[in-house]
Amino acid sequence: MRRSIPGPALFLLGVLAVYPVSAQQEERWTEVPYVPTPQVTVDEMLRLAGVGPKDFVLDLGSGDGRIVITAARKFGARGLGVDLDFNLVIQSEESARQAGVEERARFLQQDLFQTDLGQATVITTYLLPSVMLKLRTRLLGLKPGTRIVSHDFDMDDWRPDRKTTIRKNVFFWIVPARVAGRWQARLPLPPIERLLELSLTQRFQDVSAHARLNGVPTQVWDTKLEGDRLSFAIVDSADRDNEATLYFDGRVSGDVMEGDLARGVGNARGTLKWQARRVLR
Ligand SMILES: C[S@@+](CC[C@H](N)C(=O)[O-])C[C@H]1O[C@@H](n2cnc3c(N)ncnc32)[C@H](O)[C@@H]1O
Repeated sequence: MRRSIPGPALFLLGVLAVYPVSAQQEERWTEVPYVPTPQVTVDEMLRLAGVGPKDFVLDLGSGDGRIVITAARKFGARGLGVDLDFNLVIQSEESARQAGVEERARFLQQDLFQTDLGQATVITTYLLPSVMLKLRTRLLGLKPGTRIVSHDFDMDDWRPDRKTTIRKNVFFWIVPARVAGRWQARLPLPPIERLLELSLTQRFQDVSAHARLNGVPTQVWDTKLEGDRLSFAIVDSADRDNEATLYFDGRVSGDVMEGDLARGVGNARGTLKWQARRVLR
């Protein structure tokens, strides 16, 4: 099916048609013209991404620097903005100085495609759909848990984890861990240890799971992957008179997943640690 170009993209493309290019831009051609994000949308992007003092915010195509400067000024974060346009980089540095955040808000004249994305905990963008798609594979390869927030443009079939619209659309993603494969865990549940075999398939952050508990196929409920954190539930029916739900919550690191397992609820709730290993990718 042909995707229609959304209104904001047409606007940016329209600006591109008439936008006067600087000497730097003529040398290093950019597909995306400079259009600033309105300040309330900047605020909303950073709020939605849950930016805080521990974050390093990287704005790809930083324009006049407002996203990185706001991240430093209002959220106490550090950050870097990269832009091809030298004049905008100089303007950003001056604005950071005026806001008193020049130590935490840095700017470089640099191509976003040549920029190390691995340094960021949060990546912000206001680019074109085609550029978002070009970036997508690199973004998906980042450390699980890295947050991405985009003004106006999505990443096609990589569904955003959250989306808000306050004047403008803001999309938010969390880079998902790679969890697909077959996993095994020994669960020290009373009255006897159980073998959990988990088979996971994955499309971005959407995971579907099949399980066997001691060889018996068991339905998996409520599977959710957020960054490196996978949660799901299974009903333990080993004792028909004492059925209870097993709530799994684990962090994935390579071929190991470990975390907490709760059996039951309220004052009948017992918790223990669990660990699974990937036996087949
Ligand atoms: C739509 S503006 C967004 C500015 C800012 N992020 C904001 O939201 O206010 C896009 C910016 O990306 C810059 N840009 C375009 N292509 C780039 C590239 N390949 N590398 C770095 N910057 C680029 C442009 O110069 C422009 O300033």
